[in-house]
Amino acid sequence: MSRAGRPDAALIRALEGAGYHPLWDRYQRITPVAPRAKDAPMHWRWAGFEPFAERAAREVPIEDVERRAIIMVNPAFGGETVTTGNLIAAFTVLEPGDRAVPHRHSAAAIRFSTRAEGAFTIVNGRRCEMREGDLVLTPPMCWHGHINESGHRTVWFDAANMPLICGMDANFFEPGNRRDEQFWEVDQGEERLWASAGIAAANAQGAPAQSPKYRYTGEEARRMLDALPPGADGARTLRYVNPATGGPVMPTLDCYAKRLDRDTATRPCRVTHNQVCLVVSGEGSSSIGEKTFEWSRHDVFTVPHWTWATHRARSAQADLFLVTDRAVFEALDLLRIARMRCKPPARWRYSRASTWRRTASVRCARCGRCAPRTGRRCANRCALRSREAACVTSAKRSRW
Ligand SMILES: [Fe+2]
Repeated sequence: MSRAGRPDAALIRALEGAGYHPLWDRYQRITPVAPRAKDAPMHWRWAGFEPFAERAAREVPIEDVERRAIIMVNPAFGGETVTTGNLIAAFTVLEPGDRAVPHRHSAAAIRFSTRAEGAFTIVNGRRCEMREGDLVLTPPMCWHGHINESGHRTVWFDAANMPLICGMDANFFEPGNRRDEQFWEVDQGEERLWASAGIAAANAQGAPAQSPKYRYTGEEARRMLDALPPGADGARTLRYVNPATGGPVMPTLDCYAKRLDRDTATRPCRVTHNQVCLVVSGEGSSSIGEKTFEWSRHDVFTVPHWTWATHRARSAQADLFLVTDRAVFEALDLLRIARMRCKPPARWRYSRASTWRRTASVRCARCGRCAPRTGRRCANRCALRSREAACVTSAKRSRW
């Protein structure tokens, strides 16, 4: 029935004119049956970014800007500077001798060193090296600046949750002093207290919400990935944790590293939080929603919330770094993870149906292969009947 033809149309108009909305004509919009990400998954290739790094280094003097960062943007957000829900991701470029001035803000941010050997990030008076694969945190309201002390250009991957913090209108920003030489004249400082896993000062106090450790070395992460057994999704996954609590590194940003083995697709999974993935090493492909990305080293792609995703390496192995807003969903008891119990067929086609029930897969009784329930036929073109047992998908909360 059209809106104008409703018997209560006059009442609805009167309510709207008086500053009210009736629930009954719009409850499906107010309470959708499942999340629907507004952004499609997106992929930025390192090869496509490199010429812009070159131009930015040549055309943008670091003295004139707060940061020489280039942010990856999904057009689904209508021109807003957003990479995927709640998150932005960028590459920052520093020429030899460049200093990105100190500042601080209430948004949480991280840096992951891709080609940043010789650069340093100073965080709250601690000098953090940026060797290959190092993760450096800049927690909310911590003073931070960057310096390139090498003789070559440095580029690293950044991520932050500005869209979340700005959406809550909770952003505070304080610029630092460009002429403050003392800011740069620091050593590791208290970072030394958190350098070793499993050992902490006996008088360390409390359980800080932000990790007291700011630098997580790539070397340790790689060693851990070498030692880890495959997890429930078939990949080896580690979480960067706050050593004082065992929880996420920050209450609003949560970081992971994932190692994939050749031709072993991870079990298709979808989650209520958003993810930005940086390819640390290797080559492979990811099927995310309706898209399949072929990726290689230092490419970046997104997994928007509640979108089916599976990854596989094409090289002997491949490492991904994931920055997510999962900790926010966990804290608010909104975390849900749905996994398919079967392995995906070689040529998997995803459905963008709005609810998980419609995208549940079923195992074909004739050939034993799985396909989305939305399809009429399985991957082997055998007939599927909807009463056949769903082999997958539950929206129950579970761990990685
Ligand atoms: Fe910053």
